[in-house]
Amino acid sequence: MYVLDAENLVKVYKGRDKSNYTRALNGIDLKIENGEFVAIMGPSGSGKTTLLNVLSGIDRAYEGRIQISGAGIHSMSADELALFRRQRLGFVFQEFNLLDSLTLRENVMLPMVLDNKSVVEMSEKADKVMTMLDIYNIMDKYPYTVSGGQQQRTAICRAVINDPDIVFADEPTGNLDSKSSKAVMKCLERLNSLNHSTILIVTHDAFAASYCNKVIFIKDGRVHLEITKKGERKEFFDEILESLAIIGGEKDDL
Ligand SMILES: Nc1ncnc2c1ncn2[C@@H]1O[C@H](COP(=O)(O)OP(=O)(O)OP(=O)(O)O)[C@@H](O)[C@H]1O
Ligand SMILES: [Mg+2]
Repeated sequence: MYVLDAENLVKVYKGRDKSNYTRALNGIDLKIENGEFVAIMGPSGSGKTTLLNVLSGIDRAYEGRIQISGAGIHSMSADELALFRRQRLGFVFQEFNLLDSLTLRENVMLPMVLDNKSVVEMSEKADKVMTMLDIYNIMDKYPYTVSGGQQQRTAICRAVINDPDIVFADEPTGNLDSKSSKAVMKCLERLNSLNHSTILIVTHDAFAASYCNKVIFIKDGRVHLEITKKGERKEFFDEILESLAIIGGEKDDL
């Protein structure tokens, strides 16, 4: 069974009148297996964010079928979907979205607090994942006192603390400098290989995408190309750049 199995996704944004609409997703099929680490790339306006919002249940107004671990999220009520998202999915955002009134550790434990887990269990898991992502020694600091990369690594810990079926991230390195981007991508890579987390990111950045095992290129709301890492990251990076040139990504997407 696939962790994520989406069929024929169509999303139309309606404008003020009928002649004014955008077909942002134009019949997308997507399958992700357990333990995959996938990037979605494509030119600006190609439908990346729309796709991620549909797949992760943020946007419910679309056509098509989406199964996550066998559960059809397309047919869930708003309440069912909200619970499913909280218990089974992990989210990482470009803007980190940490609570400034909580320490990094408290931010990480927040999803477990909502699920009434025991304090011992929460502490042990938070320690383990924060150690894995190299933020153990700053766990008692507040978000506004640490770097963007450290904030994003905290957000990633929070996203995986409940062992989600899949983690979704829209431009997780979009607000970071190149050094922090690299640290964040290495952490996602580590979670994927050590913790077997299934991860789907959207990114403009070929360097970030090169840490993934597969890249899916979309354009005009359709899947155009899919490439899989076979050798070293550096080779995969070159292959991603070539693919972007072929599908016609804009220069600043490189
Ligand atoms: N809320 C909205 N209302 C109307 N049209 C929208 C809305 N959001 C996105 N669109 C349109 O849908 C298309 C896909 O947008 P989307 O944001 O998914 O692209 P993207 O690939 O994430 O782009 P970027 O790389 O710039 O973030 C674009 O033509 C966009 O203008
Ligand atoms: Mg976008």
